[in-house]
Amino acid sequence: MQVITAISEMQQWSQQQRRMGKTIGVVPTMGYLHDGHCSLIERAATECDAVVTTIFVNPLQFGQGEDFERYPRDMERDTTIARAAGSSVVFAPTTAEMYPSGFATTIDVGPIAERFEGAFRPGHFRGVATVVAKLFNLTQPHVAYFGQKDYQQCLVISQMVRDLNMDITLRILPTVRDQDGLAMSSRNVYLSAEQRRTASLLYRALQAGIDAIARGERRREHINKRMQEILDQIPDARIDYAAAATAERLEEPDEFPPGASVVLLLAVRIGSTRLIDNMLTTVPYD
Ligand code: PAJ
Repeated sequence: MQVITAISEMQQWSQQQRRMGKTIGVVPTMGYLHDGHCSLIERAATECDAVVTTIFVNPLQFGQGEDFERYPRDMERDTTIARAAGSSVVFAPTTAEMYPSGFATTIDVGPIAERFEGAFRPGHFRGVATVVAKLFNLTQPHVAYFGQKDYQQCLVISQMVRDLNMDITLRILPTVRDQDGLAMSSRNVYLSAEQRRTASLLYRALQAGIDAIARGERRREHINKRMQEILDQIPDARIDYAAAATAERLEEPDEFPPGASVVLLLAVRIGSTRLIDNMLTTVPYD
């Protein structure tokens, strides 16, 4: 496995692969790799001839006062994990090369980026869409792999790929969880042992929402309340949102019709750690 940091070298490598008729899969990450990331790399390795795992903590997607500086970083550990999972290349560019002075172009995908995460983290999805577009241009993938863990991010990137006619297939893979249900995240290392214990209530809250819908609940406020009640059991928690929305556009009707695809979305701060999670379901017919 090669580690590439220079942008020109990355583009040359991808061009060469394409000239040889190889398919390229890309797995964009911010590093501090865990089994969730590995599931994406492993799938890419089974479906593509060459896999590029990108590792870049993207300053453009962090707001003022967020955790950009303290975001966990460990390049040596990451390269070992990326290699074992089946990457052909780790691409880890520098911030200076990604955002040289004078950098000014950004990508805005419209209303889907303004709800939920976008409302609590203004500019976040502009940063995500912009860096992902750059990473696509640099790695020239046929297929790009993302996790459902960041559900709204998947919608934002699909919108961008569709609107800008990017010739890339997106694959969205299921959320990998710890045994107690907590979604794996690089940010989980911030949690104290006590906080880590209560963090599984996020999973329990989503399950409660899913159960309510399965039992026939269609009223959005009632579904939300079921999740809220469980999250309220977490000491030291601040709930940014615990909400049911339409899966495609994240709209919030008073009631979901039978057959509707619904996503349950959570963002909860436990102490100074902000966690997000989600689950998808379909409203049953009577
Ligand atoms: P990061 O949080 O490192 O996640 C990289 C990819 O791994 C994303 O597609 C994310 O959804 C996926 N992922 C994270 N946790 C997962 C889990 N438990 N199960 C399955 N997949 C999981 O998301 C980003 O980085 C950045 O915003 C990025 C897209 C790289 C742009 O900077």
